[in-house]
Amino acid sequence: MEHLAKTDPEIFEIIKCEEKRQETKLELIASENFVSPAVMCAQASVMTNKYAEGYPDNRYYEGCKHVDQAERLAIERAKKLYGSEHANVQPHSGSQANMAVYFSVLKPGDTIMGMNLSHGGHLTHGSPVSFSGRLFNIVFYGVGKETETIDYEEVRRLAKRHKPKLIVAGASAYPRTIDFSAFSEIAEETGAKLMADMAHIAGLIATGLHPSPVPKSDFITSTTHKTLRGPRGGFILTKAEYGALLDKSLFPGIQGGPLMHTIAAKAVAFKEALSPGFTEYQKQVINNASRLAAALEERGFRLVSGGTDTHLILVDLIQKKITGKDAVMALEKAGITTNKNAIPFDPLPPKVTSGLRIGTPAITTRGMKEAEMDLIADLITQVLDSLEDNKNIDDVRKKVIELCARFPLFGYNLES
Ligand SMILES: Cc1ncc(COP(=O)(O)O)c(C=O)c1O
Repeated sequence: MEHLAKTDPEIFEIIKCEEKRQETKLELIASENFVSPAVMCAQASVMTNKYAEGYPDNRYYEGCKHVDQAERLAIERAKKLYGSEHANVQPHSGSQANMAVYFSVLKPGDTIMGMNLSHGGHLTHGSPVSFSGRLFNIVFYGVGKETETIDYEEVRRLAKRHKPKLIVAGASAYPRTIDFSAFSEIAEETGAKLMADMAHIAGLIATGLHPSPVPKSDFITSTTHKTLRGPRGGFILTKAEYGALLDKSLFPGIQGGPLMHTIAAKAVAFKEALSPGFTEYQKQVINNASRLAAALEERGFRLVSGGTDTHLILVDLIQKKITGKDAVMALEKAGITTNKNAIPFDPLPPKVTSGLRIGTPAITTRGMKEAEMDLIADLITQVLDSLEDNKNIDDVRKKVIELCARFPLFGYNLES
């Protein structure tokens, strides 16, 4: 960082501030994590300098010997991690991964069935503000009103009626296990292809702590930066028969030169995910989420679907008579970073919402365990029970700083 400090002190200062923010605040955004120094090293390496349009041994540029080696390793490790026949590690993000799959098997106007955004789905699963909703005909499925879990009979009914070409299974704000087998049966019965988007739960699936969509799904898309704890990016797994079609759809279909520094960092993350320590980490992520969920319930919060099986909790704030927007703003002032989120059948608009999404991947990376989850539930409750009391918020902020200091990330001096 010395070079940067000298040549661009403004950006250096901004990065230092961000480092301090990460060190001194409690990161409870369910889609975030802290990568290892090894991942960061690969990501910040000379691999960023290389153009490598194409795939290993089949590039449009010379000088690709070493980036080919890195990409091959990333591919082999991804295939081993998930037991998949084919992997493409080039998607710049989860959204690009989804787009590549859609463009490989669909034509504009074809029907996709995806999970309703307001029930936990992702923008790229058919929202009208995303390319997915603009280019394709979308049919949404959702959760049942009583159970707040996916209504697989409704999925079957809708699939029979609308005959989608592609069914998308996966979510961004769904705390329960996704039954990929049920989805694959429905896809088979109705002649649809199945794409599982495991972006949120990729780390849990890699370690066998959530049922895998491999091998029954035709395509599996993911990000690398959530529970999987790799660099920001995406990847796609598929059956060997679709490999060439998919690769072509990604490049040259929708992307240009791959980000080789990120691909090297993905390879490092896949290696880390293959290690036994990663399973222990994922178990703790789930144990922490269960404990935090129980502790919040004990403190009077209602949880969507009554709890969690994963790394993620969705809190319904309606009974507390506060909005998601007000809740996240007060929590952020206290140093607890979360996001507002629609809950199923939310009466409030998406910019306000009645929900709060919380996840444990990042705080578990810091080393926090069950005892800290009880404390965090206390801190959240203390803020949300007196949203407008600044003295109360300052008090929580101090406790957050103390807690973070016990679980250092970068060894930052918290007093400075
Ligand atoms: C289920 C799901 N799919 C896809 C994405 C998109 O990933 P990205 O933000 O990398 O484009 C997300 C991101 O939140 C997600 O939760």
